[in-house]
Amino acid sequence: MEVKTSLLDNMIGVGDMVLLEPLSEDSFLENLRNRFDHNEIYTYIGSVVISVNPYRSLPIYTPDKVEEYRNRNFYELSPHIYALADEAYRSLRDQDKDQCILITGESGAGKTEASKLVMSYVAAVCGKGQEVNKVKEQLLQSNPVLEAFGNAKTVRNDNSSRFGKYMDIEFDFKGDPLGGVISNYLLEKSRVVKQPRGERNFHIFYQLLSGASDDTLKKLKLERDFSKYNYLSLDSAAVNGLDDAASFRTVRNAMQIVGFMEDEMQSVLQLVAAVLKLGNIEFKPESRCNGTDESRIKDKNDLKEMCELLGIEQSVLERAFSYRTVEAKLEKVSTTLNVAQAYYARDALAKNLYTRLFSWLVTRINESIKAQANARHKVMGVLDIYGFEIFEDNSFEQFIINYCNEKLQQIFIELTLREEQEEYVREGIEWTNIEYFNNAIICDLIENNQNGILAMLDEECLRPGTVTDETFLDKLNTICAEHQHFESRLSKNSKFLNDHSLPHSCFRIQHYAGKVLYRTEGFVDKNNDLLYRDLSQAMYKATHSLIKQLFPEGNPAKVNLKRPPTAGFQFKASVGTLMRNLQTKNPNYIRCIKPNDKKASHIFTESLVRHQVRYLGLMENVRVRRAGYAFRQPYEPCLERYKMLCKRTWPHWRGPAREGVETLMVDLQVPTDEFSYGRSKIFIRNPRTLFFLEERRRQCLEDLATLIQKIYRGWKRRTEFLQLKKSQIVVAAWYRRFAQQKKYVKIKSATTMVQSYTRGWQARKLLRELKYQKRCKEAVTTIAAYWHGTQVRREYRKFFRANAGKKIYEFTIQRIMQKYFLGLKHNMPPMSPIDKNWPARPYRFLDGVHKELQRIFHLWRCKKYRSRFTEEKKAVYEEKLEASEIFKDKKALYSSSVSQPFKGDYLEISKNPKYQKLSSAVEEKVLLADVVNKINRANGKGTARIFLLTKKNVVLADQKTGQVKASVPLLDLASVSVSTLSDGFFALRLKQGSASAIKGDFLLSSEHLIEIITKLHRTGATAADQDQLNIDISDEFLVQFKQDKVCVKFMRGAARNGNSVSCKRKNNRLLEVWVPTTA
Ligand SMILES: Nc1ncnc2c1ncn2[C@@H]1O[C@H](COP(=O)(O)OP(=O)(O)OP(=O)(O)O)[C@@H](O)[C@H]1O
Ligand SMILES: [Mg+2]
Repeated sequence: MEVKTSLLDNMIGVGDMVLLEPLSEDSFLENLRNRFDHNEIYTYIGSVVISVNPYRSLPIYTPDKVEEYRNRNFYELSPHIYALADEAYRSLRDQDKDQCILITGESGAGKTEASKLVMSYVAAVCGKGQEVNKVKEQLLQSNPVLEAFGNAKTVRNDNSSRFGKYMDIEFDFKGDPLGGVISNYLLEKSRVVKQPRGERNFHIFYQLLSGASDDTLKKLKLERDFSKYNYLSLDSAAVNGLDDAASFRTVRNAMQIVGFMEDEMQSVLQLVAAVLKLGNIEFKPESRCNGTDESRIKDKNDLKEMCELLGIEQSVLERAFSYRTVEAKLEKVSTTLNVAQAYYARDALAKNLYTRLFSWLVTRINESIKAQANARHKVMGVLDIYGFEIFEDNSFEQFIINYCNEKLQQIFIELTLREEQEEYVREGIEWTNIEYFNNAIICDLIENNQNGILAMLDEECLRPGTVTDETFLDKLNTICAEHQHFESRLSKNSKFLNDHSLPHSCFRIQHYAGKVLYRTEGFVDKNNDLLYRDLSQAMYKATHSLIKQLFPEGNPAKVNLKRPPTAGFQFKASVGTLMRNLQTKNPNYIRCIKPNDKKASHIFTESLVRHQVRYLGLMENVRVRRAGYAFRQPYEPCLERYKMLCKRTWPHWRGPAREGVETLMVDLQVPTDEFSYGRSKIFIRNPRTLFFLEERRRQCLEDLATLIQKIYRGWKRRTEFLQLKKSQIVVAAWYRRFAQQKKYVKIKSATTMVQSYTRGWQARKLLRELKYQKRCKEAVTTIAAYWHGTQVRREYRKFFRANAGKKIYEFTIQRIMQKYFLGLKHNMPPMSPIDKNWPARPYRFLDGVHKELQRIFHLWRCKKYRSRFTEEKKAVYEEKLEASEIFKDKKALYSSSVSQPFKGDYLEISKNPKYQKLSSAVEEKVLLADVVNKINRANGKGTARIFLLTKKNVVLADQKTGQVKASVPLLDLASVSVSTLSDGFFALRLKQGSASAIKGDFLLSSEHLIEIITKLHRTGATAADQDQLNIDISDEFLVQFKQDKVCVKFMRGAARNGNSVSCKRKNNRLLEVWVPTTA
């Protein structure tokens, strides 16, 4: 939950002096002290912040505090510098008003700290991001660099700013920092060569010697010991709470962040070292023959080292320290320098070197931090200028510093006191004037162009003739004597003639912050700010690029005889520019107060504070504020800002803005004494009323924001919905289209299919018809063609070439055949049927014919041969043929019988008287008569018998007697068995039961076996009504001998009696016949 606090909550004293009651200087101081004692160092006077330096760190600058003050109204929380920073930042960001934060107060009052707090606050609350953070970091880190080179320990402040600084921070429209521009004002350069007692030179010298590494120091030709350097005061070299070594590291780091290159840092340090070396150069007098004194450098070592550091030729610089060349028109006059002048030249060079280096640093930082974008910038300026100073011994610098403070005070008066009161009058607000001291008169005393002190000084400096500080004072005494704020012993104003506090060589000015006594010594010199041209030319000759860059006037090509503008003139001009710049911006004041002179915490020296309160015009400030109004605003922006608080003015007010504001106030029921209507502005008396308005506005803005959000969300959702709906319709349309398209494609393809089938069917039908017609036509054509062809061929055949081929072919074939047949005729083979010769085939195509002719010829030849046969011979051949049918390839004996003629009657039985008896006994014609061996079954031996075959019987008779032993009718023969071998054995097998069978079968052997069997077969076949005689050809057969059956077995092998067949009885049942293999 947000914690609601207010300025009035837990208040110590009063947070805003406007609320102080009763208001007096004492109560004012008491309030300050009270708050200071309770660590409340900030107090408001309206929108002005009074800051009392606590001289110790307070836990009020934490990030939590930043968050607490962020975006809160100025008067909402207890006074804080953050509230002012926040107010300034927000009005810059939200109201587009350029801002400036003016921090004033005397030295050590906390201005620099305050400026850093403001910057860090703004950095913390503004935008974030890589680029923005870099810019912020660079802006913040520019402080340590400038402080190292521009701050020094003084008796009033250990970290006193010895230059004025005004920094413009630039923001874009979002309030993000873009960059910045730093302006520096008059560095107190005299400090480089001489420091008042108890003070130090600029921090950087001590930081360099304490913090740099041995190596760096060696390179810079420096020693760590401060006492080695004339320019460094020793009595306060070490400062409590200041760690120079650590600061050096911080500075180097900061330089890196800001964007200094390593070589740039090195150059800067070389220049710092060169200044230290320069301080060590000492001179001694040397009298010349013309009586004048001349200076000589005592020990040239430092000079040498310095020259080495800066790349300057030693002799050049040595000469520049000894001579001064004055150029006037076309003349060049060179004079020698005495020791004092040499020292003066040395110090002038050191001071110039250092100031120019400082200015270069500012320029270099500006280069880094300058805003990149060209867009319009909003600007917040932070002014941290050296505070008002009153020393015992005040010189030109103090005069300048105090002049600047005078100007700032004037701005303050202008904007807060005078301007405010004038505004009331202008606006017609009832107002009782409040007296305040306007320091314009002091400013005039100093800066008036005719008779102002600075103008006098310039006049003196430019005046020919002898010009000294005394002449300048004289002039002042004459011109300013009458001025009520100018005091001098020698002035015509007799008031001060006896004022011993005012020395003769001094003048005093009654500043707004008090009287300050200025010693005129050095005024002319410092204002002239002269650096002998010889020295600047020597510097320009340096090879060190930075040095060369710092002394452009040393360029001999650009010799300018015009005097450069004086320091006072320059300062006045830059202060003038600054003031004009500040006036264009919305001012925010931080008035710093120093509570004590001891830089101590918890000490509140009342007199000191009272003095500051007085000269700062704080009491007047409160009075004006109390009498006046806390807030004012022109009607238009006021109406614009608060119009949403009233229904009648929201959203548009049509009438004049003032009436709108009046309506608004009435509607909001703001008490009438809380505000007044001016001519162009409304004046609100109390901050509370403003808070009330702001709070109502905030609430209203929240409501409006909610309303806008609501409408926007509604609009967004509705737009989204409509878009969705639109999209849905589009999608649906597309989908429907797609579906219909698909359906259409389907229907189309189906239709096409049906169509194609129908068309196909029709086409096929047509095709068939056409084909039929075509065929008919073709048939007709073919028939006609054939018919015509036939006709034509018939008519023209004789003329056809094609027929010629056939004819030739036939003719050729005829000729070939003729030749072939004639050839065959002449080469006919012999008529013997067994002759195998036949002429060779002349043509392959006649192969079949040739073979057929051969076969026919053979058949014919055989027929011819047969036709020559007689009946007898035919019978013989028939027998032979039959023999062949019976035995060929069945009995081995057959082949030997082929060539033997079948004689039949080998015994010539009818003729041989021996067989007369036998012949008569056999009545029939003997077909075959031969001697056979009848095999004895008992021993296998043969007995010769005459074998006779007639047409009906087979007769066996005794060979010697011719007695018939057996006569077997052919009808009784069942079969004849023979072997397959070449033997002559054969068995006549008788039919079972026949009369002949009683004696058994006959086993016989004959040399004419083939003939006997053939004839037997033939005869048997021709015998009436009987089946053909069976002839068994087998190597084993049974022979019936009476009752016994004997097996006759034929075997190949060697017989006992040589080459003849042998028969042997093996046992009762077996007769073995051995047939020789060769037989
Ligand atoms: N808000 C603060 N909190 C703590 N210490 C502070 C604060 N403001 C100032 N100081 C202390 O006071 C010292 C002097 O402050 P600062 O340097 O800001 O003075 P100044 O007004 O800038 O003086 P000068 O005009 O000499 O530059 C600081 O070094 C610091 O120690
Ligand atoms: Mg300061």
